[in-house]
Amino acid sequence: MSKNLSELSGRKGLSDNLFSRLGELAIEDGTPKPEEMEKLAQEFLVGSANAFGTASFYDFLKEDNKGKKVYVCNGTACLCAGTQEALIEDLKGQFKAEEIGHMTCLGRCHENSAFHYDGKNYSGNKSPVNDVIQNGQDKNIDDYRVAHSGPQILTAEFPGIETYYVPFLEAIKKDPAEVLEEIKKSNVRGRGGAGFPMGLKLEFCAKEPGDTKFIICNADEGDPGAFSDRYLLEKQPHSVLLGMMVSGFVTGAEYGILYIRAEYPESVEICKQAIDDLRDRKLIGKDIK
Ligand code: FES
Repeated sequence: MSKNLSELSGRKGLSDNLFSRLGELAIEDGTPKPEEMEKLAQEFLVGSANAFGTASFYDFLKEDNKGKKVYVCNGTACLCAGTQEALIEDLKGQFKAEEIGHMTCLGRCHENSAFHYDGKNYSGNKSPVNDVIQNGQDKNIDDYRVAHSGPQILTAEFPGIETYYVPFLEAIKKDPAEVLEEIKKSNVRGRGGAGFPMGLKLEFCAKEPGDTKFIICNADEGDPGAFSDRYLLEKQPHSVLLGMMVSGFVTGAEYGILYIRAEYPESVEICKQAIDDLRDRKLIGKDIK
């Protein structure tokens, strides 16, 4: 999460934060009105530039989005595939030109012809635009395969919550320092460019003196052509959540924040459901046993 966004989120706590409020104000028009942003800046005691700067950075908040009803992906993969001009022509059969906006990227880089409409993403040529728009047919499923080399870990079939979280329930019976040592010994590394050892990162956080700690999972996948995070968020959400939960345990963090970009609406819904399922089974919250 960017420093700017962290500061905005922390200004009044997690339940009422400037970033969410900007998103809410953009629902109707596609962008918050300038006078609303001024009001928010005063309420949150930040400079106007913070509110305007944030709104102009994110696709789902920026001024260019005003009055748009459908968003065509203008990311690198879709542009290279050369599919978007024809898509825009198709969409013009259903929308006025000024109602067609842009978003980048929708994580459908393998199918191209990607667009966002009414809270869902579509891609590929199997969903003629008029079917999607006029008949409301649920054609937003894309098609891709995952493979593995060596033992199947992140791509293994999910065995169900009860089985999957057994190691977590075992781990939280131990001392957090002991679990941290196991993570360090395992040599699990981040999957970003640096491949930074996860155990070290957790150790730094555990040693920080702050009395309230947060585990922030930045799921803002932004590399051109990449949708590996989208796969995890939508097909393996419990892998993401388990990682956050174990991290919270060893660092003593009280809160977990999963930031998912608005361009991945399906990921948001699937992760919300996974979190609800964990809450129902009392695997998150207080007194986990
Ligand atoms: S570039 Fe269009 S979906 Fe990724």
